[in-house]
Amino acid sequence: SMLEAAHENDIELEGKYSGHLWIEYLGGACEGSLACSTCHVIVMDVDYYNRLEDPTDEENDMLDLAFGLTETSRLGCQVI
Ligand code: FES
Repeated sequence: SMLEAAHENDIELEGKYSGHLWIEYLGGACEGSLACSTCHVIVMDVDYYNRLEDPTDEENDMLDLAFGLTETSRLGCQVI
């Protein structure tokens, strides 16, 4: 996933535009187990957003807790 890629490359993604995504804060506190919302990302490219698989109920529940939720918000650990 994107989260793993960021961790592997030791990328500091806080508040940066990265390709199709605005990374508000890619904390990844729960390491992708859908138990936090620190990996919240905002997809800036709607076409890209629409190509992503729909979020699961678990992801949506966590997204509801994310700060600054938008129409095209996802959890970074769940999107490729
Ligand atoms: Fe916790 Fe994505 S890293 S939900």
